[in-house]
Amino acid sequence: MTWWRGAAVYQVYPRSFADADGDGVGDLAGIESRLPYLRDLGVDALWISPWYDSPMADGGYDVADYRAIDPRFGTLWDAERLIAAAHAHGLKVIIDIVPNHTSDRHPWFQAALAAAPGSPERARYHFRDAPNNWRSRFGGPAWTRVDDGQYYLHLFDTAQPDLNWDNADVRAEFVSILRFWLDRGVDGFRIDVADRLAKQAGLPDRVAPTRAAPDASVPGVGASKPGVPEATVPTFAGEGPQPDKDQPEVHDVYREWRRVLDEYPDRAFVGEIWVPDPERFAMYLRPDELHTAFNFAFLKCAWEARALRGVIDRTLAAHAPVGAAPTWVLSNHDVTRHATRYGRADTRFTKRVHDVPSDPELGLRRARAAALLSMALPGSVYIYQGDELGLPEVFDLPDGSREDPVFRRTGGADLGRDGCRVPLPWGGDAPPFEFGDGGAWLPQPPEWRDRTAARQLADPASMLSLYRLALRLRRDDPALGDGPMQWLDAPDGVLAFTRGPRFTCTVNLTDRPIPLPAGKPLIASAPLEPAPDSGGAPALPPDAAAWLRT
Ligand code: NOJ
Repeated sequence: MTWWRGAAVYQVYPRSFADADGDGVGDLAGIESRLPYLRDLGVDALWISPWYDSPMADGGYDVADYRAIDPRFGTLWDAERLIAAAHAHGLKVIIDIVPNHTSDRHPWFQAALAAAPGSPERARYHFRDAPNNWRSRFGGPAWTRVDDGQYYLHLFDTAQPDLNWDNADVRAEFVSILRFWLDRGVDGFRIDVADRLAKQAGLPDRVAPTRAAPDASVPGVGASKPGVPEATVPTFAGEGPQPDKDQPEVHDVYREWRRVLDEYPDRAFVGEIWVPDPERFAMYLRPDELHTAFNFAFLKCAWEARALRGVIDRTLAAHAPVGAAPTWVLSNHDVTRHATRYGRADTRFTKRVHDVPSDPELGLRRARAAALLSMALPGSVYIYQGDELGLPEVFDLPDGSREDPVFRRTGGADLGRDGCRVPLPWGGDAPPFEFGDGGAWLPQPPEWRDRTAARQLADPASMLSLYRLALRLRRDDPALGDGPMQWLDAPDGVLAFTRGPRFTCTVNLTDRPIPLPAGKPLIASAPLEPAPDSGGAPALPPDAAAWLRT
């Protein structure tokens, strides 16, 4: 009963996945129509980013009604049908839950605005007579003044007021929301901003960080340290607990939620936890709290062997004492797509930048290798929609088409996250590439005609074909997914490990071909070459990975 310990989970960002009604915005019927694609891709579960009724001030992470589907996406009936259809295709469904904040259009916030300072309505949020020094994660102050002179807290956009998790109404409401969706058959929840629900009593000022200041625009991402040698890059290091983050009381919330979830068989939580310290991170994964959490240290890590090995070792070491299964994440709807990141001179993800050149061929080559690496590691793996097509970040969107509040709140200094949210190219030769019949809410680059799912399906050397084969091999091999791994001796710049007695994964991060260990190649991210002086034995080229049956 532990599918989530080793699942391959595909993240659907509903606005940009598939549009069935032709309004240019993806919808639930669109997702349903593409379930055969996802089944054939070989994933085990979907994580669907918020589908709730929302003004879309932050792409749906501003929820006005947690028990209703946004009309742009469909109806509650469509959601129920989608859950049933996914199950019929053998796919689990994880939905997003957004407990840190509501939309400013939520009836509770509207009631709070209409009520007086000190009222029970205001007590569900954080209203104060004077702001503290907290900053919004999207730029600008974290406080907005209302008509009667009080201020309310929003760690994200002004349209996302933070809930007060000391308040009994808030706690009861979310337990009821969890049950509402569990009763409709969802298999789990991805918890948004899971480490920030509890705030330190009295909301004291944040203390100045002792290290480089964290980037304001990406949740939890520390500032870049160019020139720091690889071995000393503290991939997990960053700011410690802060009054608006990683407070001990948050664990009480998850203990209560876990008791609720455990009443339903075979369900799981995955937390969005940007806590850099591995021990503090693992506290969220204690047996009576969350099942899994996203591994952002892996996502942020440079494409360098020692750095990656360090992150993998620290991940395993942090998860082992609490008995939790790790996750491996390369991209999501908040970060620069990794096919672009990996083509840059500095391959770490420290903050979003748009003026740093990237070599698309190199980026794609490394993304192919990274896919095999992430799918071979112990635990579950996350695939963000479009990863399987090797989509790059889109930087040249017209400013007028951008919707991410980060763009506005930083005055355009940060282009925001729209560039990784461009609607998927499914087929055809011109936009909207069969995303739907009515255009696409963000313009797709014309050159995506070579990246469509249909075109890649017909090409055995495509990224999509690589993902499909790798996911099938992963599912068929009981040594993959959850379970132990063992490092093999390997030259500098090479990662090699076994899963069980008969499976080896080798990743070549050097700039020259390396001889492969003995065994039968199952899949390789780039064509294998005969190794020089090896009597014809295969070699793994640079920036490539291979799985071997030994
Ligand atoms: C994290 C989500 O992934 C992101 O898209 C959102 O903007 C923030 N949380 C606020 O909800």
